[in-house]
Amino acid sequence: MEPMIRVNQVEKTFEAGSRQVQVLKGVRLELYARQWIIIRGRSGSGKTTLLNLIGGLDIPTQGEVYFQEELISMWNDLQRTKLRKQKIGFIFQSFALMPLLSAWENVELSLRMSGTPRVEWKHRVQHCLELVGLNKRMHHRPFELSGGEQQRVAIAKAIAHKPLLLLADEPTAELDSLMGAQIMRVFREIIAEENVTLCMTTHDPTLMEVADHVYEMVDGQFSSDKEL
Ligand SMILES: Nc1ncnc2c1ncn2[C@@H]1O[C@H](COP(=O)(O)OP(=O)(O)OP(=O)(O)O)[C@@H](O)[C@H]1O
Ligand SMILES: [Mg+2]
Repeated sequence: MEPMIRVNQVEKTFEAGSRQVQVLKGVRLELYARQWIIIRGRSGSGKTTLLNLIGGLDIPTQGEVYFQEELISMWNDLQRTKLRKQKIGFIFQSFALMPLLSAWENVELSLRMSGTPRVEWKHRVQHCLELVGLNKRMHHRPFELSGGEQQRVAIAKAIAHKPLLLLADEPTAELDSLMGAQIMRVFREIIAEENVTLCMTTHDPTLMEVADHVYEMVDGQFSSDKEL
């Protein structure tokens, strides 16, 4: 089976004033369909930088990123934007919901943006909100929801357009441990029901066991690669 994502010897250097800072120093990673992987590591170790490269939000300085065998790290902005709209869902630490829109409207917005035919919206919005367990909160706005509920809306929004890949950057960082565990259960269900691959970052050591594989980022490299 071919990997969905293949990251090959990726390096990333940022310009900070006159200085160059090398954040990723040769990362290799393969992600298969329906896999759940976690990237852990200290603040500043390069987790978000790597997630951005996998999701086509940025391109590496060296090395390659493949999405379904296509070399997306050579694609231009327009091509990568199109890929993101169609095949990738993003979830952030701070939920990133539209504050004036209800849960329902937030999810609907994602379908509008992805170009999903309007006739499919109602069924899909309902399905996604039910999947994350928000049956009774569909018409609440973000400020009327708890942090855990807001994150569940954000997850429903991220999966609405049926992406192949979900990228979640510290999705539980602003939640207490109970809500964090609930979010993990929601993810487990989504992987099973929607056939997505999930790649997430976290600092929380109690969440690690849910994943199929945990990579530890240490100073811009995975620790298992460092030992080689
Ligand atoms: N656009 C940028 N320009 C310059 N430096 C950057 C840029 N983006 C990230 N960095 C630097 O790269 C390093 C890694 O950042 P990154 O956000 O990937 O870390 P992280 O592992 O996600 O940390 P955290 O756990 O705090 O989210 C940091 O030192 C950061 O300052
Ligand atoms: Mg980060």
